[in-house]
Amino acid sequence: MTAVHDDSAPGARPHLTITDLSKSFGRFVALSGISFDIAEGEFVCFLGPSGCGKTTLLRAIAGLEVQSSGRIELAGRDISRLPPAERDFGIVFQSYALFPNLTVVRNIAYGLENRKLAACRTRACKDW
Ligand SMILES: Nc1ncnc2c1ncn2[C@@H]1O[C@H](COP(=O)(O)OP(=O)(O)OP(=O)(O)O)[C@@H](O)[C@H]1O
Ligand SMILES: [Mg+2]
Repeated sequence: MTAVHDDSAPGARPHLTITDLSKSFGRFVALSGISFDIAEGEFVCFLGPSGCGKTTLLRAIAGLEVQSSGRIELAGRDISRLPPAERDFGIVFQSYALFPNLTVVRNIAYGLENRKLAACRTRACKDW
């Protein structure tokens, strides 16, 4: 799996830090020793073939999956063992739970608008 970063905020303090994250399902190793930092506001894509662990990684960050080992820190706070509701993450799943009548951007904006995120942060979505 490859992480593609937007480097438009060089030198910014890491907001999300993943350290040596691993996840096994029984004897099957889905994630092994994943480490990276993401700055606040940075746009990052995880690329890789089907089954390489992209969704498993996102689920672990959101707390929907408990990692086998490793650490997840948000703004310097260890959130590795917190339940999903106590983390500040949402996932737009790739199927089933999408609104078929809305665009990709509108699907993503839906959850943000429901949380009454400041309009200035979702305005970009309204132009789509
Ligand atoms: N709950 C589970 N139990 C057992 N194996 C699982 C479970 N969830 C995922 N896996 C396995 O872990 C591996 C990674 O799956 P994952 O869904 O994270 O891949 P992905 O990169 O998101 O794939 P895709 O591009 O097809 O969405 C796959 O081999 C998958 O079968
Ligand atoms: Mg997936």
